[in-house]
Amino acid sequence: MFKALIAAALLSVTPQSDVPQLNENNIPEVIAAMTVEEKCALIIGGRAKDFNGIGFTNIGVEGAAGVINGIPRLGIPTVVLADGPAGLRISPTRKGETRTFYCTGYPIGSMLSSTWNLELVEEAGKSIGNEVLEYGVDVLLAPGANIHRNPLCGRNFEYYSEDPLLTGKVAAAMINGIESNGVGTSIKHFAVNSQEFNRLANNSILSERTLREIYLKNFEIAVKESQPWTIMTSYNFINGEHASESSRLLTDILRGEWGFEGAVMTDWSGGYDDAQIVRAGNEMIQPGSDSRFKKLLAAINDGSLSMADVDRAIERILKLVVKTPKFKGYVPSQTPDLEAHAKVCKKVADEGVVLLKNEKAALPVSREQEIALFGTTSYDFIAGGTGSGDVNRPYVVDLMTGLSNLGFKLEPEVDAFYKDYMAAEAIRCKRINGNNKWYIDRERAIEVIPVELIEKAAETADAAMITIGRVFGEGKDRDYYHSYCLSDREQELIDCVSKAFRAKGKTLTVILNVGGFVEMISWQDKADAVILCWQPGQEGGNTVASVLCGEVNPSGHLPSTMSTEYRLEPSFKNFPQAVADKPYNYSFYRHFTDRKLPLNTVKNIDYTNYEEGIYVGYRYFTTYAPEAIAYPFGYGLSYTTFDFKDMKVAAVEGGWNVTVTVQNTGKVAGKDVVQIYVKAPKGELDKPERELKAFAKTPMLAAGESCELTMYVSKESLASFNEKTNSWEVDNGKYTFVAAQDAMDNSLKVKVQVN
Ligand code: GLC
Repeated sequence: MFKALIAAALLSVTPQSDVPQLNENNIPEVIAAMTVEEKCALIIGGRAKDFNGIGFTNIGVEGAAGVINGIPRLGIPTVVLADGPAGLRISPTRKGETRTFYCTGYPIGSMLSSTWNLELVEEAGKSIGNEVLEYGVDVLLAPGANIHRNPLCGRNFEYYSEDPLLTGKVAAAMINGIESNGVGTSIKHFAVNSQEFNRLANNSILSERTLREIYLKNFEIAVKESQPWTIMTSYNFINGEHASESSRLLTDILRGEWGFEGAVMTDWSGGYDDAQIVRAGNEMIQPGSDSRFKKLLAAINDGSLSMADVDRAIERILKLVVKTPKFKGYVPSQTPDLEAHAKVCKKVADEGVVLLKNEKAALPVSREQEIALFGTTSYDFIAGGTGSGDVNRPYVVDLMTGLSNLGFKLEPEVDAFYKDYMAAEAIRCKRINGNNKWYIDRERAIEVIPVELIEKAAETADAAMITIGRVFGEGKDRDYYHSYCLSDREQELIDCVSKAFRAKGKTLTVILNVGGFVEMISWQDKADAVILCWQPGQEGGNTVASVLCGEVNPSGHLPSTMSTEYRLEPSFKNFPQAVADKPYNYSFYRHFTDRKLPLNTVKNIDYTNYEEGIYVGYRYFTTYAPEAIAYPFGYGLSYTTFDFKDMKVAAVEGGWNVTVTVQNTGKVAGKDVVQIYVKAPKGELDKPERELKAFAKTPMLAAGESCELTMYVSKESLASFNEKTNSWEVDNGKYTFVAAQDAMDNSLKVKVQVN
């Protein structure tokens, strides 16, 4: 039916020579020549019938997420949209083709931000964008830029940080990198999309100040510093109004205040009132469906949606179309340089590894040493998260392989045990998982504790390592007990290995191969070293092995706060699956078809109260609960040491230049990150203890070498949003600029008078 409607729309008028053919200078004429059905066909995306599950289509490029329908009569090509933030997600096979179409699996968003290296993130974007171009896709549905409000959010792996500045800057770097290839992006999910449970109908309730300073500020920075071709609105409501239907959000703020010039699309099946969606400034409704096509056509024909609003949407879509490689007739090679991209993938991952703990000189280990490698995940490394943010990668290097690649000797009996065990577990898990790769939890190997092997290995091996793995994803938030906490078996394994190796004066290193934080306090004292390698993409094992042996000196810093206990999180009471007496037993899409929305009946499911306001992450912990910080925002160790000195703050146009000299005071080369926080004077509004206002990463500094970093802090970035005046205001008074290693550090301070 939908196909018939589209076909009818597209062929309703036989092509005549005087029919305008789209180009960047005749968009008004093309709009004037379009039939109403053709206009609907441009707004309503590629038909859902071709989708095998949300986010797949076979129109354009197999496995892409969707398309903007083409209108051949007017020279409008089909524009292909595909996910996602950790690499292009398309099918690795195509009908009638014997070759494959794998895409490079890059590190997850949280690992990109952990590099605090914007140039490197842009380089990753360039690389990803080249695969988008060469595989024939026009717009990549990335980056994911929502805020890490709570550690249990199922999509935190795709997002960058608890801080809007770090998020916005990393997103802008990613967008600029990707779009440098002449392809588009779609920063998402706009906005305040901080949980997965009941995501299609959850109502985010928050103050205007919280909205402006935290949950829009990330998108504001990204839009102003990168001009993304498109933005994807989120599934949720914001204070009772659906994100895709909000004129205030999409017209007044996004375009009116921030100067966004691109086009807006819904998330897949997002939004409810299609006429209001278009009226509000959300131009594309993805994916297409019969009902949404017919409803939109009816709304135009009955006048409830004005032709002026429709034509404004069509103009924005056509301005997007004329920028695409498809429109420009680019012929994709279908052979991007995956080998070169794999090197970029590793280079980025190398800088995103965060060294959390390193005692008794546990790390780096020399390659002469024999490693007893434990943990099922060491043999089944996790490259990324699940759902639309997944990637069909050519391979994933696990830690066992990565260590072997660098010439490490593995304790042979432990290695043989895990190889046998994992082969059996692979069969068991395959039987359970089938081919379901989509967002539902996948069965993974069950942890084992080979006690005798552990004790024997402690005699012969030089050091022990355990990898703890966590994978989760779209459509579901993490479970406190089964995902955030370590399992009894994991605790027992760490305990057993720690005791056996420490009894021999040997060390244990724990590697966290996770998409988001896990509980730390109950076990970390049993480990001499802990590294957070996130989900590092397809080269994961090689990256971790390079760090373990010191070939790479870790320079990652936390993009969010690791708290001592989940219950101490500021959003603990206002998040689904809080450590409830009884887990919720409800469907993920509680109101998917119920149009009487939003409902404010069930707390944290139908509505979520952002009661913590602007006090998210370190803004909360440094102000109200420093003792609840296990590892602070911005924290990261190195195999060397650094000293900050000679901090200066010089007033310049519109703000200040902050300069800091960083010296490598240790014995090996390394990189460090200088963070500039600002503490505002007491004013009418309450303010957090400190807020990140700038940061920079040093180049590689040799032992003893120094460099001077200059970071710009704009005056407007000191402003707070005053709800009384509905405006941004900078209080007069004495501000403290802090140059720090992390959110709890006070290395250097300079007072600055602001009038
Ligand atoms: C999904 C996701 C969005 C993705 C889209 C297309 O439901 O929320 O991030 O880009 O659908 O797959």
